[in-house]
Formats: sequence, structure tokens, C-alpha cells
Amino acid sequence: MIITIRRAEAGDAEAYAKIFSGPKAIWGTLQIPYPSVEMWRKRLAEPLEGMYSFVACVDGEVVGQLALHTNPNRPRRRHAAGIGMAVRDDWQGKGVGTALMQAAVDLADKWLNLSRLELEVYTDNEPAIRLYKKFGFQIEGTAVRADFRDGEFADIYMMARLRPPRETKP
Ligand SMILES: CC(C)(COP(=O)(O)OP(=O)(O)OC[C@H]1O[C@@H](n2cnc3c(N)ncnc32)[C@H](O)[C@@H]1OP(=O)(O)O)[C@@H](O)C(=O)NCCC(=O)NCCS
Repeated sequence: MIITIRRAEAGDAEAYAKIFSGPKAIWGTLQIPYPSVEMWRKRLAEPLEGMYSFVACVDGEVVGQLALHTNPNRPRRRHAAGIGMAVRDDWQGKGVGTALMQAAVDLADKWLNLSRLELEVYTDNEPAIRLYKKFGFQIEGTAVRADFRDGEFADIYMMARLRPPRETKP
């Protein structure tokens, strides 16, 4: 199976709506059920400044997405960026999230000169926490009863990854 990563485009709106129609994708993110294709078309066609959105494709079909939110207009936060991601329910656990995160980390480290990546994750989202730890994210704290999810409040971990020092070539 070959997973290809590319920049997201407005034409991916239907695929985004499909990703966020999945109960597991909604459970793990801050999205509201019943996503609108039109909302995604607008978001993708007119992205916020400093937003880099990527999709993962298998056989030409979009099966996951990741957004890197940089801070171009906040001079003292230019080294930091936030990450949000989701893989379509039927594609989870097959390496798509790993491929997306690898692309994001490479872009951040090697091209955007970002030294701190940040994200928030529900404390009971084991696959996501495992993925993030694999890429060097650490838990920095817990926000208690931070979000409302499926009828009850949920705690979230604040996680961050500091860019590791570059290996010097011999
Ligand atoms: C979290 C998410 C992005 C991970 O993407 P993915 O494609 O499923 O992840 P991968 O297949 O690359 O696997 C990543 C790691 O999680 C582990 N994993 C996968 N499913 C798991 C599960 N049910 N329980 C525990 N670990 C699991 C994998 O083993 C892998 O670790 P490894 O490489 O050490 O074996 C995806 O599951 C998802 O979109 N979930 C719903 C939305 C969400 O939670 N988004 C994150 C918001 S913070």
C-alpha cells in the first residue's frame, strides 16, 4: 500500500466532510457532527494565513488530513505551530497517521524552521497519544473538563515536541 501526501485543495472538501462524518473522527477531534461540504470548501479555498493543510491519499483517494497552524503575525510565537489531524474511520490503524505526521515534522524541522509543535488530545485517545509519543511529543499538562464530548466533559493533555538537535555529519 502506498500512502501519498500532498497539499489539500478546495476540491478535497467532500473528502473532508466524509472524514468528519465518522464517529471515531468526531470523538477524537473538536469537530461537530454533520459536517458541511460547503464549510470545508470555504475553509480549504480561503485558508487562514500560516495554515498548511495536507491530505494522505491511497490509490488517489483522500483518507486522512493534517493541518499545521503557524503564527506568521506573532513574532514571539514564530517558532511554534499547532497540529490537528484525523484519519477516516475505515483507514485508522494502517499507518496513515504516521505518514501524515512524518510529513508535518519534516516540513516543520527542515523547511519552516519551527522548533516547537503543539497539540491537544483527549486523555483517553490511546492511538493518538501513541502516535504523538512516537514522534517525540511529551505531555506537558492536563486541562480538566476542557471539552464537551458526547454528553459529558472530557480532559485533554497538552502535548508538545521540541525539535531534537540536528545530528552533525562526521
Ligand atoms: C489518531 C489518528 C490520527 C492516528 O492515525 P492512524 O492512521 O490511525 O495511526 P497509525 O496507523 O499510523 O498508528 C499510529 C500508532 O497508533 C497505534 N494504534 C493504532 N490504533 C490503535 C489502538 N486502537 N489502540 C492503541 N494504539 C493504536 C499504532 O500501533 C501506531 O503505533 P506503532 O507505530 O507504535 O505501532 C487516527 O486514529 C484518527 O484520526 N483518530 C480519530 C480522530 C483523532 O483522534 N484525531 C486526533 C486528534 S488529537
